[in-house]
Amino acid sequence: MHCDIADRSLAPRGRKRILWADADMPVLQRVRERFQAERPLEGVRMSCCLHVTAETANLVRALRSGGAEVVVCASNPLSTQDEVAASLVEDHGVPVHARRGEDTATFYRHLEAALAHSPHITMDDGADLVTAILTKHPELHGQIVASLEETTTGVIRLRAMERDGALRFPVIAVNDAATKHLFDNRYGTGQSTVDGIVRATDLLLAGKVVVTVGYGWCGRGFAGRVRGMGARVIVVEVDPIRALEATMDGFQVMSMRDAARQGEVFCTLTGNKHVIRREHFELMRDGAMICNSGHFDVEIDIPALRALAMEEHRGVREFVDRFDLSDGRRLYLLGEGRLINLAAAHGHPASVMDMSFATQALAAEHAVRHRGELPVRVVDVPREIEEWVARLKLDSMGVTLEELTPEQKKYQSSWEAGT
Ligand code: ADE
Repeated sequence: MHCDIADRSLAPRGRKRILWADADMPVLQRVRERFQAERPLEGVRMSCCLHVTAETANLVRALRSGGAEVVVCASNPLSTQDEVAASLVEDHGVPVHARRGEDTATFYRHLEAALAHSPHITMDDGADLVTAILTKHPELHGQIVASLEETTTGVIRLRAMERDGALRFPVIAVNDAATKHLFDNRYGTGQSTVDGIVRATDLLLAGKVVVTVGYGWCGRGFAGRVRGMGARVIVVEVDPIRALEATMDGFQVMSMRDAARQGEVFCTLTGNKHVIRREHFELMRDGAMICNSGHFDVEIDIPALRALAMEEHRGVREFVDRFDLSDGRRLYLLGEGRLINLAAAHGHPASVMDMSFATQALAAEHAVRHRGELPVRVVDVPREIEEWVARLKLDSMGVTLEELTPEQKKYQSSWEAGT
């Protein structure tokens, strides 16, 4: 089996982490059990470019129970949990191409190794596999049944491909399912970003001025959670409706220039490029800490920070680099500007990945069952899948849903009754 991981001897530790996560993934467990019985993915080759975490390992277990032949590569150079990669290889016989801290050349070599599997279905966290297939692998275009996308950033990229007429096969926007972004982006990113910042710095958040750049689902989640810990939260947003929402949610909303002067901790969650740049570094307070929780490491203009700094001190503490400016101010960059929740912490908790990954697994099944029928576009996850996942999650939490009475059903489906 061809694979490239850091250290196979870490497998026992990885096995424990995978089982620990599994215990908090009841919906995915149900999918795995049904897949085992029905084998809906029999013979389907899947290449998955995902963060190699304990939760991802449980997704891979479910897909393989369904009969899929899965190869995994890292979707980020810093997010791989080497012990999980080891367990996937040693205990489950899954070819994995991922090493924590891999350089860019290795990252792309791993991506190519996953594509050498000649997939029918790809699963992406940032659209890197699809981009590589469209730009470098025309031989695969005809055989791809569908590609599934996990992130907001990836969906934005894929919609741009669709607009440009570049797509060659259907894409299912798993990110856009309510059972994904409403929970994973809001509660998962919200909590794990706080976790990443705290692990990297040991800061007390109470009383700190924390600037949340972006008020999408991830930004909303982070702002809400960090406020819950007592931080004084500022939101920076370009969309007027979201800015209004943040204002009515009780946050101070202002321009990046104004926020730059006041913030003590900055976190970008926009999916866009250079949202914190030279003009902002120039205004920041001594000791400001800057991090990113968006998918790519482009949100903070790190080259500009480097150019501005007189000296750069790498690793003043694990996950922290210090940049000394000529006027004596020191700015701290956390997690090299890569997503802090996976670089410095363990990513989203299993309980939330449970829904995201159950939705992924069921979307893969849907793609196979409708092979050749899906349009060559970015399409949504079917509503039945979302409802099934939500119902099961509620059930696992011991929450009972109310049901409509026949009278209420009739009332809702008729238009005659008025005042
Ligand atoms: N993305 C964010 N958190 C994650 C996790 N725990 N596993 C896989 N992908 C993730």
